[in-house]
Amino acid sequence: MKKEIAKLLSNQIEVLGEEEVERLLETPPRTDMGDYAFPCFQLAKLLRKSPQQIAGELKEKIGDEDFLERVEIQGGYLNFYVDKNMFAAQTLSRCMDPEYGSDTVGNGKTICIDYSSPNVAKNFHVGHLRTTIIGNSLYKIFTKLGYKVERINHLGDWGTQFGKLIVAYKKWGNKELIEKNGIQELLNLYVKFHEEAEKDDTLNDQARAWFTKMEQGDPEALSIWKWFKEISLIEYKRVYDMLGIEFDSYAGESFYSDKIGDVVKTLEEKGLLVESDGARIVPLDEYNMPPCLIIKKDGSTIYAVRDLAAAIYRKNTYHFTKCIYVTGQEQKLHFAQVFKVLELMGNDWADQMVHVPYGLVSLEGMKLSSRGGNIIYAEDILNEAIQKIQDIITEKNPELPDRDKVAKQVGIGAILFHDLYNQRIKDVSFQWENVLNFDGETGPYVQYTYARAASVLRKAGDFDVSRETDTSVLTDEASIALLKELDRFPVVIKDAAEKYEPSFVARYSIAVAHAFNKFYHECQINVEDEKVRDARLKLVIASKNILKESLNLLGIECPEQM
Ligand code: ARG
Repeated sequence: MKKEIAKLLSNQIEVLGEEEVERLLETPPRTDMGDYAFPCFQLAKLLRKSPQQIAGELKEKIGDEDFLERVEIQGGYLNFYVDKNMFAAQTLSRCMDPEYGSDTVGNGKTICIDYSSPNVAKNFHVGHLRTTIIGNSLYKIFTKLGYKVERINHLGDWGTQFGKLIVAYKKWGNKELIEKNGIQELLNLYVKFHEEAEKDDTLNDQARAWFTKMEQGDPEALSIWKWFKEISLIEYKRVYDMLGIEFDSYAGESFYSDKIGDVVKTLEEKGLLVESDGARIVPLDEYNMPPCLIIKKDGSTIYAVRDLAAAIYRKNTYHFTKCIYVTGQEQKLHFAQVFKVLELMGNDWADQMVHVPYGLVSLEGMKLSSRGGNIIYAEDILNEAIQKIQDIITEKNPELPDRDKVAKQVGIGAILFHDLYNQRIKDVSFQWENVLNFDGETGPYVQYTYARAASVLRKAGDFDVSRETDTSVLTDEASIALLKELDRFPVVIKDAAEKYEPSFVARYSIAVAHAFNKFYHECQINVEDEKVRDARLKLVIASKNILKESLNLLGIECPEQM
């Protein structure tokens, strides 16, 4: 409805586009002040007329519209009163369509999303959990808008650290222990290497030599490296399974080692490479950035050049219209450099590269890192959340059917929602009582609202959705407010995609849940009057559908009972 009004207005306003008009349109606090209000103050400045005069002219030009009951001028506002009956009927019917919110804007276009991308032989920590969760949600949002999305896990599986690990393994490693304890044991070896290298610097030379062997294709070096990678992937996949997340490609950094030669050649041909202290770099001072290091002094390749190769490979393979990278904000400079070098290389698609950064994660105020002693594994946090929900179920609803499944859906949903609820650039601080609060702005709260809607419908017994409904009974404040929320869904998805902000969807789901709960408390649903009952039940179904689809876009499942 809001869109319709925006269209109507923008047809009459030359200086503002439809989207601008839509953004300006307000929803007054009470419907007697109009369902939507258009402030004319900005236009007044632009057109050098009074806001009242503009409102009057617009009203005149718009004339009568079927879906509008009336249009009124009030102060500098133009207030729109929609035909509530028609609005209710339309919104309900759209919400019954599983495709509601979908779009065709993305049809025929591909987007690559590079996310999760943990570093092999390092633990999958809560920072990697964030990229995984945000990336997965963006995948769902863009898919909903019709794009084909390639989900790429750019594993950190190449680099000098593997030389170190090989040295450590050969000196102090134990195959059985690694097979038993997985990444934890590899981390121990890594720490041991650094301790020993403090005393004996030749260890670092040995490590470099082993990485050089890897880069030259030495079979022994590669087979140990490959094994480290397999050990790590077993653990990563356990986390992905818990989250219900899959990837289309696991082509990590190692995948590009044979594609770097071409990149270096192009950089040379374009005269971009400069020798500096034995290393080879692309200077970027003209663009106010430190140089992009391409090849190290010892001849080994690094992260940045592998990203250049990966970007070119992806363009040639997937023909993306956008290539998105979801990482912590500390990599901002890295991506700015990589994107700039791609541009300098003459790739006219360099402007299709997007870095989507996010803030730090801390656990009850404690910063988490893989270096210090307090390593926090994402898997442990997920398991702890599930356990805590199990405890709550034992206390409050021990007879709940399917309790293990529900505990998993709610526990994991709580973590995901908490990560996605705030703007991604904001730091996230984990506090169990906030994450699991059933009354706060949390995943469990939205899931609980969904389960409440499901329970209303169960109690109503057989209900035929296809039965004609008299929507004129849905014109009370609470029902209309809820319908207005449901009406916003497609716009929310588009905004979330445009800003790469799953938080828009998370906040929206809270708004729908609030509106639904208000409706639930104010409007008795199971009433004698069949007309009223039917219409309200339909509104319950509509709300349930949208709650479910919103959470689905965040990667969260909905239990029918909680
Ligand atoms: N492995 C990196 C890390 O854990 C993230 C990789 C992001 N993707 C990329 N193409 N650079 O920090």
